[in-house]
Amino acid sequence: MKRFENIPLRRIIAAWFLMLVFTGPGFTDTPAAADSFPERIVLNLTQTPHLSQAVTWRSEEKGKIPAAQIVPVSHLLEAESHAVTVKADTCQIEIDESLDVFHQSVVFESLVPGTEYAYRVGNDPHWSEWSRFKTASGRNDPFRFVFFGDIQEQVAALGSQLFRLAVMAVPDAAFWLFAGDMMDNGPDDREWAGFFEAVSWMPKTFPMLPVPGNHEYPDPRIIPRDERRITPLWRPHFTLPDNGPPGLEETVYWLSYQGVCFIILNGNEPMDAQAEWLETVLSRNTADWTIVAIHQTVYPISTRRHDTTIQEILVPIFDRYAVDLVLQGHDHGYARTKALKNHQPVTGNEKGTVYIISNSGPKFYPVSDRYDHLMARTGSKEMLFHTIDVDETTLRFTAFDLMQQPVDEVVIHKNIP
Ligand SMILES: [Fe+2]
Ligand SMILES: [Fe+2]
Repeated sequence: MKRFENIPLRRIIAAWFLMLVFTGPGFTDTPAAADSFPERIVLNLTQTPHLSQAVTWRSEEKGKIPAAQIVPVSHLLEAESHAVTVKADTCQIEIDESLDVFHQSVVFESLVPGTEYAYRVGNDPHWSEWSRFKTASGRNDPFRFVFFGDIQEQVAALGSQLFRLAVMAVPDAAFWLFAGDMMDNGPDDREWAGFFEAVSWMPKTFPMLPVPGNHEYPDPRIIPRDERRITPLWRPHFTLPDNGPPGLEETVYWLSYQGVCFIILNGNEPMDAQAEWLETVLSRNTADWTIVAIHQTVYPISTRRHDTTIQEILVPIFDRYAVDLVLQGHDHGYARTKALKNHQPVTGNEKGTVYIISNSGPKFYPVSDRYDHLMARTGSKEMLFHTIDVDETTLRFTAFDLMQQPVDEVVIHKNIP
């Protein structure tokens, strides 16, 4: 009975509806258990997004043979006979004393670059609907992606609005990059439920690149800062490139997408090992563009931030390897620096790094003037999303507000004339 009490009302309604549909004349199978349906379906990019694609989902029953099926969209109408079935990896998580859940994942391999596929997940007969994704082209072709800062509060109520605007603004986005603090309390499964309610079907089609924020860790008022570990719900929900430093797998990672090297750092963890790893990745990087994402800010705009450790460790590396763009969250305000090198705006044709701090939720902090001499624009009390258009010679970054109005824009040129 306790088990039943944990089934959300919408599932009970869904089960009741299925009973009505499937108990007509001639239907002899036992109706499906309502709590076996796949939910929280998320695409993630792999290190080679032109050849493979990861998908992760959750169910409240393991099912007989959890799997995912994939078919080129050109064969969608004959999917039942053309689909390839891939058996899932499963991990069991205890949510509370009365509820265990099963996170399942599959990496589709040997895909064709630049090809649209349909896929579904689950197990017979509890399959999801078919969703779509497109593999990267494997060449340095132009593409667009969406970037969000902290959502964190009122995620279902207001974050959902921003997500819908992003879909309308960039219906062909290659992926969505989140700078962390996607929710307020990452160890609480109810907050993940709120996040997935807010993003709805979107991560089934727009792969997520998540950056771990401090709110994906336990509250430091409950667990001392140096004893905190990322929520045990993080890794089960995602299937991310496993190419970070030992101990930081799937919270620090890199991948390459159509001429851009994306590097995700974890500012909640000590930076020394990450700096060494970052040097190695950057020294081997042959991509046209390099974009780093980290939740914590390099040049903070919040009046409450005074620690310069990240700045001291990372800026010399960003300078040495001419990182183009650094995407951050955490300070609950907006900031775009001028192109910087050695903590100063560059002059003439010198190459610099642009640092963006974004906020995509309704939580706002006062903005300090500490680094005003480095800033091209700052803003407060704005819920923003960002589109980033990349081609071989330019990177165009645009900030949109809740009224869908562009409120800031910068174009970074690869080859300075
Ligand atoms: Fe934060
Ligand atoms: Fe935050």
